[in-house]
Amino acid sequence: MSTSTQTASATSQAKGAPLLEARGVVMRFGGLTAVDHVDLTVHEGEIVGLIGPNGAGKTTFFNCLTGMYKPTEGEVRLAGQVLPPVPRKVVVAGMSRTFQNIRLFANMTALENVMVGRYCRTTSKALTSILRGPKYRREEAETRARAQELLEYVGLGHTTEQLARNLPYGDQRRLEIARALATDPKVVLLDEPTAGMNPQETREAEQLIFKIRDSGLAVVVIEHDMRFIFNLCDRVLCLVRGAALIEGTPKEVQSDPRVIEAYIGTGDTEESEALEEALHEHDEIVEHLDDRPKEA
Ligand SMILES: Nc1ncnc2c1ncn2[C@@H]1O[C@H](COP(=O)(O)OP(=O)(O)OP(=O)(O)O)[C@@H](O)[C@H]1O
Ligand SMILES: [Mg+2]
Repeated sequence: MSTSTQTASATSQAKGAPLLEARGVVMRFGGLTAVDHVDLTVHEGEIVGLIGPNGAGKTTFFNCLTGMYKPTEGEVRLAGQVLPPVPRKVVVAGMSRTFQNIRLFANMTALENVMVGRYCRTTSKALTSILRGPKYRREEAETRARAQELLEYVGLGHTTEQLARNLPYGDQRRLEIARALATDPKVVLLDEPTAGMNPQETREAEQLIFKIRDSGLAVVVIEHDMRFIFNLCDRVLCLVRGAALIEGTPKEVQSDPRVIEAYIGTGDTEESEALEEALHEHDEIVEHLDDRPKEA
């Protein structure tokens, strides 16, 4: 199958063991319940979409998964181990992320930004680093080489020495993905990876995420672009006012009238119109896939 026609449905049979398991996650801010008893299981080799109207609690849920917030209730496990709500420990355990509001080191180069992600896997202690002994120099060279490799992997091989703040917006988003990959994650969480991208960049981002999945990682992705989500994901979870409205295959989610209602209910007509259009288009994708000859 050519990559340009690749869809998640074609590979959804290949999913592996449960990797990320969130159970009964609740996040309250005073009287507001931003995340309301949400469960999510992500298997090895799976791409899972997280959708929902503005303010539904998607980013807050990511913050609970990655230790940025300590959930009011609930538990998050990675490969069977309970994750402590401490960002650095979560990264070391094997889960990394990108941010809705890009968080790069603006005055560092693209390469240095990726190297920062790598430092959670290096072992040089402070004294070795200060003295710049042979072990430090070897690790630093390895870190640099791996960072350059990752820049090339995300299509930014030409940006090595450019300051992050001078990169176009779409490239900054890809640089964040490279930094997340530098931590050697088992699962990577992407918060609106195509926000602000043009259609061509969005297609490239889609191919990059398939490539990441094909390299053996699990991916959870938040997006408002429904075409992107339905084409990319094996499963989709829709949150509304903090709670899970529906979880299922793209086909199941796109045919559930409550999903459109949830978007219309926000008064965001532009988004709900785009959603309806995408749902219709996805119908055609699914039908086309169903026409493929069945394997014995
Ligand atoms: N630190 C915080 N303190 C208080 N309220 C918060 C905090 N973080 C998020 N919220 C609230 O929680 C709710 C969910 O916000 P969140 O950012 O998770 O939504 P979202 O689904 O990511 O929305 P969007 O699609 O606009 O990014 C909102 O009402 C928001 O105002
Ligand atoms: Mg958000």
